[in-house]
Amino acid sequence: ALRRAGNIHWQHVDVDRAARAASKGQAARCVWFTGLSGSGKSTIANLVDKRLHALGRHAFVLDGDNVRHGLNKDLGFTDEDRVENIRRVAEVAKLMTDAGLIVLVSFISPFRAERRLARELFDADEFIEVHVDTPLEVAEQRDVKGLYAKARAGKIPNFTGIDSPYEAPEQAELVLDTVSEDAERLADRVVQRLLG
Ligand code: PPS
Repeated sequence: ALRRAGNIHWQHVDVDRAARAASKGQAARCVWFTGLSGSGKSTIANLVDKRLHALGRHAFVLDGDNVRHGLNKDLGFTDEDRVENIRRVAEVAKLMTDAGLIVLVSFISPFRAERRLARELFDADEFIEVHVDTPLEVAEQRDVKGLYAKARAGKIPNFTGIDSPYEAPEQAELVLDTVSEDAERLADRVVQRLLG
């Protein structure tokens, strides 16, 4: 159980987030990619990261598979663990935007309520929710990591889209259709939305 902090006061620092971002010549942003496993989140986030880097912007990718190797290695895939996974990641993303970065968050983040909590940590223009809208049939057919086959065979319990829910965003800032457009073009659209 999480213990609530008592007797803890917020420590003010004089350099604010806008000043930090400005010193990097950019506005801090949290780009929150959500979508099924194998939808293309990581591929697109990586391309956006490369483009921003080439443009001299300071971005950083937070990716589910990677964060689960370290900070969140104590968490699995029950609903409760996913909620905590997203809570921590949202807080890390918030710290990174406080440091002036453009953070590219790439997690399934299947629950609307947790994505809303994440959004609430940011100013309205700072948070860009991007739905990587690949239908289950397509993600399952691509099955890049072979996880859908394992999940169908009952070897991975609580697999998103199979026996664990995915709640699609209702009002994402961007919806990316990975069936009709390739990852390069979709990455362009994200960069355009960020800088354009
Ligand atoms: S979540 O729902 O946001 O907490 O998930 P996330 O941290 O993004 O982790 C998803 C990656 O973990 C692998 N994996 C699973 N995904 C879904 N359900 C189950 N049960 C599961 N077990 C392992 C999988 O490789 C996911 O990677 P992506 O990149 O999304 O395909």
